[in-house]
Amino acid sequence: MPITLSSRSLGARGSIIRELLKKAAQPGMISFGGGSPDPLSFPSQEISRRVRAAFENNSKALLSYGISEGFPDLVASLKAYLADREGICFENNELIILSGGQQCADLTARLLVNEGDRVLVESPSFVGCLNAFRAYGGKLVGVPMDREGMDLNLLEEALQGQRISLLYTIPTFQNPTGFSASLENRRAVYALARRYDVPILEDNPYGELRFEGEKLPSLKSMDVDGRVLYMCSFSKTLAPGLRVGWLVVPKPLFTAFKIAKQSADVHSCTLYQQVCHELLTQWDYEAHLERIRALYQQKCQRMDQEMRDHLHPAITWNKPQGGLFIMMFLPQGMDALPLVDAAARRGVITVPGSAFMADPDAPHNGIRLNYSMPSLDQISQGIRLLGEESYRLLA
Ligand SMILES: Cc1ncc(COP(=O)(O)O)c(C=O)c1O
Repeated sequence: MPITLSSRSLGARGSIIRELLKKAAQPGMISFGGGSPDPLSFPSQEISRRVRAAFENNSKALLSYGISEGFPDLVASLKAYLADREGICFENNELIILSGGQQCADLTARLLVNEGDRVLVESPSFVGCLNAFRAYGGKLVGVPMDREGMDLNLLEEALQGQRISLLYTIPTFQNPTGFSASLENRRAVYALARRYDVPILEDNPYGELRFEGEKLPSLKSMDVDGRVLYMCSFSKTLAPGLRVGWLVVPKPLFTAFKIAKQSADVHSCTLYQQVCHELLTQWDYEAHLERIRALYQQKCQRMDQEMRDHLHPAITWNKPQGGLFIMMFLPQGMDALPLVDAAARRGVITVPGSAFMADPDAPHNGIRLNYSMPSLDQISQGIRLLGEESYRLLA
């Protein structure tokens, strides 16, 4: 029987990055295409020891249905952590555990975005969340992002148009650009959202991966009137396979999220929530973060140096102070796709900036490079090959 898909799902696109990663898995390829943390950074032994102990002590509870809003100990330890690290106040907010940042975006879109609503996003932005907004019929409006953050004039212009139902932002070590919004820019974005009465979804998976510079306040810490939803996960700091993320929501929204979670997947895995709670409270999580920051600093440093030595001088980029990505830019008006294709033919996988745009069919001059997954040697070798192709293309 030919089964008809719902009209909502007809326009859904798969992630181009997931397709690229299949190519990158072929032997001999060097991949700057992924977004995963270095598997060497996973605290595998610590996790496996705690999984075994948890099962020995409490297998019945761990294998039973859990609580939709999250394992209470983890909810409490995360609230304490966020109050301390991010200055988030829980007097008027609640925290719900969700299955990674991706589910935070999915449920937010489900609850706040009606079919045809406009959603403001940075341009470029993380394609997984863009796809979540698209899946609920959101019409994406891109606001260009540079090393200071979103272009405030264009943001205001977009806010003055038709009603916006959500503003999605990744202010710190943004995926894909690696840019971080300045303090002034953060304040201005929040003030504009207030003036035009728009809720903000702030995404901060990379904030703890700062290896240089001063920490900047989250938009959530500036939120005086309950308009910021704040999402994060352990995917980049512990391991993405745990699928443990969290969303801080203003209290009036909490019940709606709890109900949405129940209908999505009932609850996230209790075993891994317990392990995350233990790692946060009974282990030196901060020392672990220091180790992975040092690892990524070294890799970022190597990539930046190789880019200086080998890329065509017309190519520009901003060396990030944390996170997992550098975006390199060809001269304005040039499409990066031919260079992405040429590099792939030489065995180097990268992602074209167009994949992260509100309109993915429009040309873009950026290429996202990930430095967490490849080894130092692969970084050197891959950037050299990319450099050769850049000279060929820009000659
Ligand atoms: C900006 C951003 N948000 C959300 C996610 C989703 O991560 P996860 O669902 O693993 O927490 C990612 C993953 O790469 C990301 O880069």
